[in-house]
Amino acid sequence: MRKRDLEALYEQYDPDTPDRERMRRGRGRARLTEQARARLAEQREAAVFDDGPAAGGRWSTWDDADERGPRPYPGWLVTELAAVDGELGILKTGKEADVYLLERALPATGRTCLLAAKRYRGGDHRLFHRDAGYLEGRRVKASREMRAMRQRTDFGRNLIAQQWAVAEFAALSGLWAAGAPVPYPVQRIGTELLMEFIGDADGTAAPRLVQLRPDPRELAELWRQLVDAMVILARGGYTHGDLSAYNLLVHGGELVLIDLPQLVDVVANPQGRTFLQRDVGTACKWFRSRGLPDDVADPDRMVELLLDEVGLR
Ligand SMILES: Nc1ncnc2c1ncn2[C@@H]1O[C@H](COP(=O)(O)OP(=O)(O)OP(=O)(O)O)[C@@H](O)[C@H]1O
Ligand SMILES: [Mg+2]
Repeated sequence: MRKRDLEALYEQYDPDTPDRERMRRGRGRARLTEQARARLAEQREAAVFDDGPAAGGRWSTWDDADERGPRPYPGWLVTELAAVDGELGILKTGKEADVYLLERALPATGRTCLLAAKRYRGGDHRLFHRDAGYLEGRRVKASREMRAMRQRTDFGRNLIAQQWAVAEFAALSGLWAAGAPVPYPVQRIGTELLMEFIGDADGTAAPRLVQLRPDPRELAELWRQLVDAMVILARGGYTHGDLSAYNLLVHGGELVLIDLPQLVDVVANPQGRTFLQRDVGTACKWFRSRGLPDDVADPDRMVELLLDEVGLR
């Protein structure tokens, strides 16, 4: 079985064909029929001996995702099931998660896209610095699960990691749909979320704001973009919750908000206002330190503006 044949088979299950749409509506989520699944498995198996994923690669996990990003799927996203995910390297190891660079490519067609894979850690013994304030009040159904999380058993740690992945995926999906400048959330499987890679086509990641030395004009423009972004969040009732020059990427002059698992609901969270004030304070401090005039980066005015948007004034 050659790739071309494989692709012809998957063509029938193109996510955007009406057939696929019917199947999805019928079952709640995109699913192949049992028969098609068996055929797919057979052909993938055959392809491994033929020209399947090279070492370090895996079949695209698009079809196995627990959740997918908002529709319509962006045109650049490779959604074909015959695609292969190849890991190109690690972008950053963090305290709670590691971020990898992934290429999802459809062999022999030249269709390819770069993705950032954020994998929350579950298995080690670190505590999540964000657990305390944020997880409070989030409901967990089974008390057995709650106990496991409190006692930090391996199972519990994994659940916590998964909760963060679920929370970040939901935050990205909501904010993307609201038009906020965030990476497009592609999919989540367990503790791993895949999102749009912010960077160049050669795999160079966009710098974080903290790494830049913008001239006064660029600085004013970035500030304007940040205010716009925070207003979009506030209109939805949110503030970032961990805003800093480390969690803002700048690509082609465009500011992108990242690292959103702790997105704060300003009204529902008892400390909502405090989180909002802290985000504004951190942002103003950084922009002032880079030379933005105090009366432009004015935290009091900004907090007022955002609380207005939230509807809390
Ligand atoms: N979509 C993306 N495109 C490009 N780079 C990204 C993307 N998402 C994350 N990164 C890189 O990975 C780093 C870590 O991501 P993020 O801040 O979401 O995770 P984290 O676990 O909070 O890390 P840290 O503990 O360093 O804050 C970012 O600072 C950025 O450099
Ligand atoms: Mg971060």
